[in-house]
Amino acid sequence: MNTFKKIEELRTELLNHRLKNKKIGLVPTMGALHQGHISLIEKAKEESDVVAVSIFVNPTQFNNPEDLEKYPRNIERDLDLLSKAGCDIVFTPDVNEMYGSTHDLKINFGVLENSLEGKFRPGHFSGVGQIVSKLFNIFQPHNAFFGQKDLQQFFVIKKLIDQLSFPIDLHMVPTKREINGLAMSSRNERLSQEERLEAGLIYKALQESADAILNNTPINHVIEQTNELFKQNQRLTLEYFEVVETDNFTGISTVSDPRKTALCIAAEIGKVRLIDNLLLNY
Ligand code: PAF
Repeated sequence: MNTFKKIEELRTELLNHRLKNKKIGLVPTMGALHQGHISLIEKAKEESDVVAVSIFVNPTQFNNPEDLEKYPRNIERDLDLLSKAGCDIVFTPDVNEMYGSTHDLKINFGVLENSLEGKFRPGHFSGVGQIVSKLFNIFQPHNAFFGQKDLQQFFVIKKLIDQLSFPIDLHMVPTKREINGLAMSSRNERLSQEERLEAGLIYKALQESADAILNNTPINHVIEQTNELFKQNQRLTLEYFEVVETDNFTGISTVSDPRKTALCIAAEIGKVRLIDNLLLNY
């Protein structure tokens, strides 16, 4: 496994692979890797000849400075996991290498910008779009892999690829879960054992709600029930629960296409914000 900190050195390495007609698969990450990331790498290995991972905690996508500061970082452990997972290339730039002194470019994702996660995290998707575009330009991968857990992010990146004509095949990899259903996330590292157990309620609520909708319970009723379920819980605070269409992540009151319908939740436990989702045809 080769590790690079500098864009130019990485570009030279990637060019050598491209000249040999190797297919490059990119897995962008912010580190603090877990089994969810490893499943992205496994998928990347199936689809590509060379698997590249970037590790960069991107400041421009954090609207909350405390969240950025507390974001878990453990580069030695990450490199060890990546080498065991059979990753070929790792890119670990610092903020200066990625942004230099100015980074005022703003990408606006239209309706996705202000719906759901966008509404609660102003500027977040613009920051994601900025860094992912840079990574796409630096790596020029044939394939790119993102997890379903960040569903709206996936559709933001799909829009980026479609509308800026990046010649990249985008892959969505299903969410990896703990035994109690809690979606794996780097943020889980900040939860106590009790909080981890309690946070299983998020997935339970998603499953029960999806089943209720599939059994024709009206969506507004399902939303009320889920709000009630969280009110009864001492530790978890529901930020939002919405049933949305994945074209725009705007709430719907009736399902027109189950394949495009997702249930999305954000909840806080302690000071940790967790998100999760389920596609209705799960
Ligand atoms: O999902 C993440 O870890 C980040 O948002 C990403 C895609 C690596 C961009 O910083």
